Amino acid sequence: MNKSPLPWTFVFGVVLLFLAPPLGAKDLVVKPPPESMSKLYPPESKEPKWIQQMHKMSGHFGGVFVNMREQDWENVDRHAAALVEAYEETSKLIPEWEDYFDLDAARKFADAAQSHNPEQIGKAAGALGKTCGKCHRENYVSVWTRFHWPKFSAIQITDPVDEKEMEFGKYMGLVSGSFKGVTVNFGEGQYDRAHRALRTFKTRYLELRSVCAKCHTNDDVKLFYVGAAAEEAFAGMDRELTKKKPDPGQFWRHVGTLGQTGCKRCHLTHRGYAIIQNVWEAD
Ligand code: HEC
Ligand code: HEC
Ligand code: HEC
Repeated sequence: MNKSPLPWTFVFGVVLLFLAPPLGAKDLVVKPPPESMSKLYPPESKEPKWIQQMHKMSGHFGGVFVNMREQDWENVDRHAAALVEAYEETSKLIPEWEDYFDLDAARKFADAAQSHNPEQIGKAAGALGKTCGKCHRENYVSVWTRFHWPKFSAIQITDPVDEKEMEFGKYMGLVSGSFKGVTVNFGEGQYDRAHRALRTFKTRYLELRSVCAKCHTNDDVKLFYVGAAAEEAFAGMDRELTKKKPDPGQFWRHVGTLGQTGCKRCHLTHRGYAIIQNVWEAD
């Protein structure tokens, strides 16, 4: 077999790749939105001005097409002119984002609208619409994370077992540790310890119900993660641990139910944004 060493240029290239990974077209970077954007959202601004501006543009954009289908050309012209005005206005609100706007494409759209030719209007709309779409793709998640998602890290919760108050993330560590107290002991056949750990774990887990109201006004959400399925899983684990000879198949089934319908589903709904917020706060 030929064991010739790798050419050094190849090795060098690989090293460079690790030092500065290039951004590909499919990489989505979730960096915090520009500082100046805060002025356009509560609490700094009374109204969510950026969103209002979006509705204005979107309304006039849609207005052009609704009226075009009705051949109401007077209103087509009115909406097209208003769209260009709103688009220009919007382009000045966040200096860091000026380059997303193509004022030329906006003017061309207004010209096309005046032609009253649907095909021309459609083509120019495509070019303008692309500028909307690019910014949306790249910034929706960031903006939702910054301005719409409440912070779990701002929530304090009192541990019902030790009566100590702590940050939510830290409490999660405690919940997770108590869960392991149950499963590790069960795995070792130490059923008495597992049973005691289960009581602690259940108390801590169900205390999570107290945080829902920090963000939700509707109590119905508590049917999820911390509702009947969790109660049944706890009862099932308890039943096995009360037996002289617990059935491992049954026990692990209940563990799985809690992990999937409790921990996992709540994480899928709530944790993604918290992870981004924590990364932003860390530096
Ligand atoms: C420079 C970036 C940028 C450009 C350009 C842009 N948008 Fe937006 N748009 C956003 C962001 C960011 C949001 C999310 C705002 C939020 O949820 O707080 C948004 C949200 C929206 C929404 C949803 C509003 C809501 O209530 O959730 C609409 C509709 C919209 N944009 C229409 C448009 C149209 C039409 C254009 C082009 C004519 C456009 N946008 C161009 C950044 C942009
Ligand atoms: C830090 C804030 C926060 C906390 C605490 C929180 N949630 Fe949520 N949750 C949200 C947000 C934001 C959404 C997205 C939709 C919305 O606003 O309702 C959501 C969505 C949900 C959904 C999807 C259905 C819906 O209303 O959109 C459920 C179910 C849910 N949460 C249950 C819970 C339960 C149960 C708890 C307590 C154990 C809880 N949440 C605690 C912020 C929170
Ligand atoms: C209210 C919904 C919810 C439920 C139910 C839930 N978690 Fe979490 N969990 C979160 C959120 C949100 C975070 C991120 C918190 C943060 O980083 O501020 C988190 C973070 C964590 C972390 C990381 C803690 C750290 O140090 O940052 C672990 C571990 C964890 N959860 C384990 C579990 C386990 C195990 C269960 C089930 C026994 C569970 N969680 C149930 C919402 C939930």
